[in-house]
Amino acid sequence: MRRLSFLMPGCETVENSNPARRHFLSIMDLSVDALEGLIDRTLALARGAPVKPLVGSVANLFFEPSTRTRVSFELAAQALGARVVNIELASSSATKGESLTDTCATLAAMGVGTLVVRHPDSGAVATLAADLQGSAQLVNAGDGHGEHPSQALLDAATLQATGLDWPNATLAIIGDLRHSRVARSGLQCFHALGIGCVRLAGPELMLPDWEVGSRVERVHSIEAAVNEADAIMMLRVQHERIDKTIWPEPRTYARDWCLREEHLARAHPDCRVLHPGPINRGMEIESRVADGRQSLILEQVRMGVHARTAIFEWLKDEQQS
Ligand code: NCD
Repeated sequence: MRRLSFLMPGCETVENSNPARRHFLSIMDLSVDALEGLIDRTLALARGAPVKPLVGSVANLFFEPSTRTRVSFELAAQALGARVVNIELASSSATKGESLTDTCATLAAMGVGTLVVRHPDSGAVATLAADLQGSAQLVNAGDGHGEHPSQALLDAATLQATGLDWPNATLAIIGDLRHSRVARSGLQCFHALGIGCVRLAGPELMLPDWEVGSRVERVHSIEAAVNEADAIMMLRVQHERIDKTIWPEPRTYARDWCLREEHLARAHPDCRVLHPGPINRGMEIESRVADGRQSLILEQVRMGVHARTAIFEWLKDEQQS
């Protein structure tokens, strides 16, 4: 089995020798075969393949705001025939001091088989996986600035659907990389798929302070990043995770890092533009680009439902294997 090897902060080894097979926590837990299988299945579902029904209940626990991720997990679970319960921080017993593990153990005791968790603390879902007893399966729907593996899967499937030739592709990821779980999981995923080159660019204080792996170039301007690029992924400034003292002045940020049509003209003529959303128009991406011919932003949203359906199916297969 080909296994993904990549350095993560605080990780001493490049191999994950104990993958959390039962859960979907990190791209790092997947073999390359499993990752490719998930992408193929996502694309098959996007082409209309019938789903494999899932009996049971899914709980969405979102302790951070979310529109597309939460709704797409909900729609995916419903499409599979599962019962879905949605729990948000404000209405959960977490406000009474209950720990995340106790909340999840409570739901599992009621028969909820799959828990989709988004949490503001990096590592919270992995810690939960270590602490939670029983057979409930966990899906990491984004933990702080840690990981966002389902987003990486949908981004890879979206790019693959356009025929991106991974080994010969140049992808630019631009913006607030340091606080972006999308960038971190995306890099793990694109490396596993053999991407030719990734260019990273953004303000100095927003460049990654985490290990980025090989075949990565850091460049110092948006122009250098997009030059001849086959795909560009723009990132939102994650103000909710940034020390206010380094929060950039929006006009200065937009002047230097907003993707505009003049930038796109420097990229490959068929360059694809991605953004995980939510977008801040005029800040990191101008409307003409976000709504333009090369934008895949809504395609990413559409693919998100299929990617999450594929994840639920995969979890069921893992449980039975
Ligand atoms: C991203 C996230 O929450 O990490 N959005 C998403 O999941 N669609 C990126 C962001 O919030 O900027």
